[in-house]
Order: sequence, then C-alpha cells, then structure tokens
Amino acid sequence: MRRRDGGRAARCGTHENARFPGSARRPQVVMSALTAPPAGPLSGVTGVPGDKSISHRALILGALAVGETTIEGLLDAEDVRRTAVALEALGAEIVRDGHHLWRVYGRGVGGLREPRAVLDLGNAGTGARLLMGAVASHDFTAHFTGDPSLSARPMDRVAEPLRRLGARLVMREGRYMPLAVTGTAAPIPIRYRLPVPSAQVKSALLLAGLNAPGITTVVEPTPTRDHTERLLARFGAEVAVEDDAGERSVALRGQPELEGTAIAVAGDPSSAAFVAVAALLVPGSAVTIQNVGVNPLRAGLFACLAEMGAEIRFDNRRTSSGEEVADLVVRAGPLRGISVPAERAVSMIDEYPVLAVAAACAEGETEMHGLAELRVKESDRLAAIARGLRACGIATEESDAGLIVAGAGGRPPGGGTIAVEHDHRMAMAFLVLGLAAEKPVRIDDGAAIATSFPGFAALLGALGAGIEPARPA
Ligand code: S3P
Repeated sequence: MRRRDGGRAARCGTHENARFPGSARRPQVVMSALTAPPAGPLSGVTGVPGDKSISHRALILGALAVGETTIEGLLDAEDVRRTAVALEALGAEIVRDGHHLWRVYGRGVGGLREPRAVLDLGNAGTGARLLMGAVASHDFTAHFTGDPSLSARPMDRVAEPLRRLGARLVMREGRYMPLAVTGTAAPIPIRYRLPVPSAQVKSALLLAGLNAPGITTVVEPTPTRDHTERLLARFGAEVAVEDDAGERSVALRGQPELEGTAIAVAGDPSSAAFVAVAALLVPGSAVTIQNVGVNPLRAGLFACLAEMGAEIRFDNRRTSSGEEVADLVVRAGPLRGISVPAERAVSMIDEYPVLAVAAACAEGETEMHGLAELRVKESDRLAAIARGLRACGIATEESDAGLIVAGAGGRPPGGGTIAVEHDHRMAMAFLVLGLAAEKPVRIDDGAAIATSFPGFAALLGALGAGIEPARPA
C-alpha cells in the first residue's frame, strides 16, 4: 500500500511497519490482557469502523476493475490490510490518500499477475476465501497461508466449486492452509448449489466466474449476505438474482469489463452490535450509533433483540453505495429470553457471541439453534461462548449445534478470565459482558480486536466505559 500524506506519496513496502504500527507485515505476538469493570450509564453519539465484508470486496473488485476505484470509510484494520497487501502482490496498486480515502488501480478482469511470495492472510477468512476464488480463473499458481486460527479453518468448501470450474488446489490434510491454488486458463462457468450457507463460498465462486466465458450461477437454499452481488452490479457486471420459494440464485455473466467506481463503506453492523448490546445492558444508557449498514441479510441480531424487548430505533434510513444504512438509537432496558430459530442463524452468524451476552442478562432462558457453523469460525465459538459464560457464573447448556443460556435477569456475576484464542469477536463480547456484570471480566489478549474493530476500547471509553489494560493475573 502506498500512502499519500499532505501530497507526499510514500511507498509502504518494508517501511510500512514504521508508518502503520501493527500492520499486516508484522505478526502480533504481544499479549495484552484487558479488563472491563462494571460500567455506569453509557451515553453519546458515535460511529463504528467500516464494514469488514464490504471492505474486502471493494478492494478485490477494485483490483479486478479497469481504472481507479475510490473507497471512503474502508475498514482500516488488520484483516483488510492483509487483503490489500495480497492484492498488491497480485499486481494491483493501492494508495491510501489521507485518513479517509483509499484509491485502487485495478488490472481488469483476468489481469492479476502471479505473486512472487506466499500470500499471508493472517486471521482473515473472508480475504483468504475470496482471493482463492479470484485467482482460480487465472493461469498461475498462488500460495496461501494464515495465522493459527485461519490455518485451522476448513478451505475444502471453497476448493470444491473452484475445482469444478477447472482450478487445482493442494491443501494440507486435504482441507487446510497452507494451500496452493493453480488457476485455470480455461475456466468453465458452472452452476453450483451451496451445500453450506456461506457468503464466502458464494463470493469465491462468483469472483472466479468473473473470468469464465458464459454464466456462472450460485444457488443458495438459504440466502446469505449479498454484498458481492450488489458491488458487482455497481462495478458494471451483469448479475441476475432470482428468488424461487425462498431459494435464491445469483447468475453472473462472465468476462465483463468492470469499471472503477466510487464506494462509501458504512459502519459494520457486526461491530455496531457490541456497542448496541453494551448500551442495552448497562442500566441508564442512551447511545446513538450513526451510519451503520442495515443490510436485511445481516439483520438477525436486531430481530432477536427486538423480540427480547430491546428499544432500538432505526433513524434516517437511506441508501449509500447500494446498501441500506441507518442511525441506531439505543436505550437500555430489561430483556427477556427467547428462542432463536435455526433459519435465522445465517443472518447473524457473527453476532452469537454478543447475543449470548445479552441472553446472560435477560430474564429467563434463551435458546439458540442451528449453530453448527459457529464451530468453524475464528475459534470454535459455540464451545468458547459456553465456556466463557460458565467462567462468569452463567449456566449454559451446549449441544452439537445449539446453546441454552440461563439469563440472570439483570447484572450476571462476571468475574471470569477468558482465553480468547485469536478471536476478535469473543474478546469484544466478553468485554461487553464485563461492563454489564457485577464483577469485572478479564480477557487474556485484546490484540485480536484489531482484526475488525481498532479503537474498540477507546470508543466505549468515550461513551463512559472503563476498559483498561489488566494487571498480570
Ligand atoms: C462473511 C461471511 C460469513 C461471516 C464472515 C464474513 C463474508 O462467513 O461469518 O465473518 O464477508 O462473506 P461464512 O461465509 O463462512 O458464513
């Protein structure tokens, strides 16, 4: 990434670390324990960092377009930087212009070049899987690796459709990173029905299909987040989306000329979720979170919270760069336990850690079903949530794909220390629990938060919370 500061352009290559402390090129090895003590009322108006899903996609499509793409509000966090660095290795030029604007100079569909080094995607599952798709229809080999968490996540789900399209993939133990993708010079446009609901797999295949002659179709028995489809259309691709009795099909005409465009990325609803739940749970709180993406395919948490009795208003609804956006106005209040249906899981898959925290404070039990996918996220989140809640004095019952949380009907005991296992969302969820509990909650390592929500503790601090470095245990 190059960066322009006050008109002075600087190459970021090896000097990048000096300019971007904690950047993609420097692995983070320092453990930084944090503690969240019980908070008094949170109040104020805030925003949250840009949407992670959209940020990865905007960079990748910018790299596959002709001309300049400008991205405002890109999530400037560890995961997205990894994708940016990988795209540079694939031949795109990415420039940071001041604090808020990024410029991508793309290579056109089919124009990526063979990387000279291994692409290290760190913790970024979305970056890794989408880029595997993007390179699968290019006539070269790219090697991928990641951190211990990403290296334990299944990649065979992406490999399967990419092989049908003509790519060759070699993976550790047949399904994990490190892996190599040898793309095909003659990609076949395929029709593929997703065996697991995964926006990453859908997007990987669509990105591969971009360079295939003819129509690539992904059929989704359960619709997943549709940012890729929306952005493809914005870049000028022909995408037809059809709904047939709840089953969705996305058909992309291959080999379009994508044109660079301007994209404004709104705040990430998955990040806003932590702030919103903190404001709901800490008595007396009133917080407004401005400019948050409210894509209906990611709205499951807000549906749950409304059923639990939460007071969240969506003000100033509007459309920005093809996505729905609103300001969330949140007021604290009592919650009651609910049963969350399995069908809702896909629309809130990243929000279960923080929903479980809300459930821990609700009156009565909350049951969650259809959670099998939680076991293959940045950690086995189903086990980690259950373990963490128990460490904080909250009774839980975990099954293969379900969780029951016994709510405290107010402040739960807290007092636990949580091992977050490189998982940013586990780290943030348990800090929120500490704010709402009777005794502080400590996490063993806050570094992972930089994956998706840099400035998390400071942002909550500005609203009145006191998350701080923990003394060694
Ligand atoms: C994402 C899709 C989801 C989600 C992840 C982001 C995306 O993963 O959990 O954090 O940007 O497409 P799956 O595709 O594995 O469900």
